[in-house]
Amino acid sequence: MITTLDQLYFEQIRDLYSAETQLLAMLPQMAAHSTCPELRNAFKDHLQETHDHCARLGYISDRHGISHQAVSCEAMRGLLLETKKHLAETVPGDVRDAVLIASGNRIEHYEIAGYGVAKAFANCLGYGDDADLLDQTLQEEGDADATITKIATGGIFRSGVNEMASHT
Ligand SMILES: [Fe+2]
Ligand SMILES: [Fe+2]
Repeated sequence: MITTLDQLYFEQIRDLYSAETQLLAMLPQMAAHSTCPELRNAFKDHLQETHDHCARLGYISDRHGISHQAVSCEAMRGLLLETKKHLAETVPGDVRDAVLIASGNRIEHYEIAGYGVAKAFANCLGYGDDADLLDQTLQEEGDADATITKIATGGIFRSGVNEMASHT
């Protein structure tokens, strides 16, 4: 039973750590499935950042004695299951890149929401050092989302996925 904001905050940290760990395993596949070089690089860059995100959550966990046994973020599991399903349904090229963009945006928005909440809880509880670390990650999640969107609107979607797909 969760009865205090402290406990709820620790639960949020556990959930984020599980989400990041799952994403860490999936990002190399998302990069490998990308045809567009910019998209591939965006996923590779975010893989490096995601290592930092896990490390920051690790610092926070050590600080408060938070354990991570038997915790699974079901929301991230679902997002990644959908991603795998859509990858299996498409062939390499613009449409598969569009699948990766759609998934990438969903994943980043989920993380942005999670870090925004965790940062607000940390501030409310007086854990300023935690809030600073969570804010660094929050900024990087926002930048990753913006990068994916820029690739989509600046190139892949601008010329029309369906039109391109129908010519391949
Ligand atoms: Fe992250
Ligand atoms: Fe992320």
